[in-house]
Amino acid sequence: MHHFRYHGDELFCEGVSIETLARRHGTPLYVYSQQTLTDNFRRLDEAWAGVRHLPCYAVKANSNLAILRLMADLGSGFDVVSGGELLRVLAAGGPADRCVFAGVAKTEEEIVTALRAGIHCFNVESEQELERIDRLAGDLGCVAPVAIRVNPDVEAHTHAKITTGTYENKFGIPFDQVEELYARAARRRNLWLRGVQMHIGSQLTRVQPFEDAVRKVAPLVQRLKDRYGLEFFDIGGGLGIVYEEALASGDPAWWQTPRGRRMLTPELHAARLVPILKPLGLRVLLEPGRFITGNAGILVTRVEYIKKTGRKTFVIVDAAMTELIRPAFYDAHHEIVPVRRSKAAMVECDVVGGVCESGDYFCKDRPLPLPRPGDLLAILSAGAYGSAMGSNYNTRPLAAEALVHKNRSALIRQRQPVEAIWQWERPAPWQR
Ligand code: LLP
Repeated sequence: MHHFRYHGDELFCEGVSIETLARRHGTPLYVYSQQTLTDNFRRLDEAWAGVRHLPCYAVKANSNLAILRLMADLGSGFDVVSGGELLRVLAAGGPADRCVFAGVAKTEEEIVTALRAGIHCFNVESEQELERIDRLAGDLGCVAPVAIRVNPDVEAHTHAKITTGTYENKFGIPFDQVEELYARAARRRNLWLRGVQMHIGSQLTRVQPFEDAVRKVAPLVQRLKDRYGLEFFDIGGGLGIVYEEALASGDPAWWQTPRGRRMLTPELHAARLVPILKPLGLRVLLEPGRFITGNAGILVTRVEYIKKTGRKTFVIVDAAMTELIRPAFYDAHHEIVPVRRSKAAMVECDVVGGVCESGDYFCKDRPLPLPRPGDLLAILSAGAYGSAMGSNYNTRPLAAEALVHKNRSALIRQRQPVEAIWQWERPAPWQR
């Protein structure tokens, strides 16, 4: 469910018209709904009420400070994957002791930053990393809280680029090596074995892979808990969202349709996993990213040109893969709707950006009411892995971002000034 709706023929985010926002802030523009973000967080949190738990919002999905502040206000923890993300959470007023730090390549500097900040836990991905954390904690005279990331070797049945829990992937410690590694870790002086972590993949739309992974790992977690007195089991993120019928899924009635009923909801996810997890007597950590922000954001773009080539109709817009790379990178489907509905004839269109790459498209051969230059389009379900994966390729400034709360809106990131892109570059001295 979300709060992007037509009132008459005009698309709104909560009580604010998208056209007004585009006029005020220009395009390309990300627009987020605070109510949707809040509802998504609370819905997930309530679904897990049957067991002690802490949702740790996956910052990588959308790391805007205003969104992090909102999550902190809602009581969320944070899953960070770099020193930069940790510093962002702190800058937004988030608590360090609710941050878990994942990632296969943590540098010494990042580990020291996290130790000094006093994070909840490092989710450790290799034995060498464990040694490094132990040594650096020793140098600082502190004890480092750690969990080992288990790779359960379970197929997540999602896109290959976002599957993480099989032995084909670089993540975690192979299931059958985990017990040994805990034993070795327990002999180190500066480590505090605090939990176990896993994450099998992203955009999962079936509960079965989650269940398979949790069932497989739970007995191991029980043994480790008995031996080392662990506190938590972090089962990662991955809950999928609706992309194909994104607009319709904003309506509660859609969830009663055959398609809606087949979607994975947080209620179903929790209902199937809590019975397996509860007997462990551990706090359950969750790392939802996409579920929180995905359908809470849209990318608003203006049509620059229409080009008909005989074979294709290209709708050329001012957003590009630099703002939203998911279609180019994963062939991901994002629904595209006009910001003002018209009676225009439906035409099969390729909506494309202006970046010099043939892969720079938002959709191919999709029937859309043919827009005119100057019209606004909304690319839906863009709140997760949209802005966060933005880049400056082709020296394109990072897009502006606005947050809507009821009838109010605020610019939560100004459009990057173009000079800022080369701010840290300079000619070599011999070129002067
Ligand atoms: N925890 C860990 C350890 C992760 O690696 C991820 C995502 C999450 C949690 C959050 O997963 P979520 O709940 O958002 O599915 N850029 C891709 C997604 C990459 C996901 C990477 N890891 C996309 O646009 O689909």
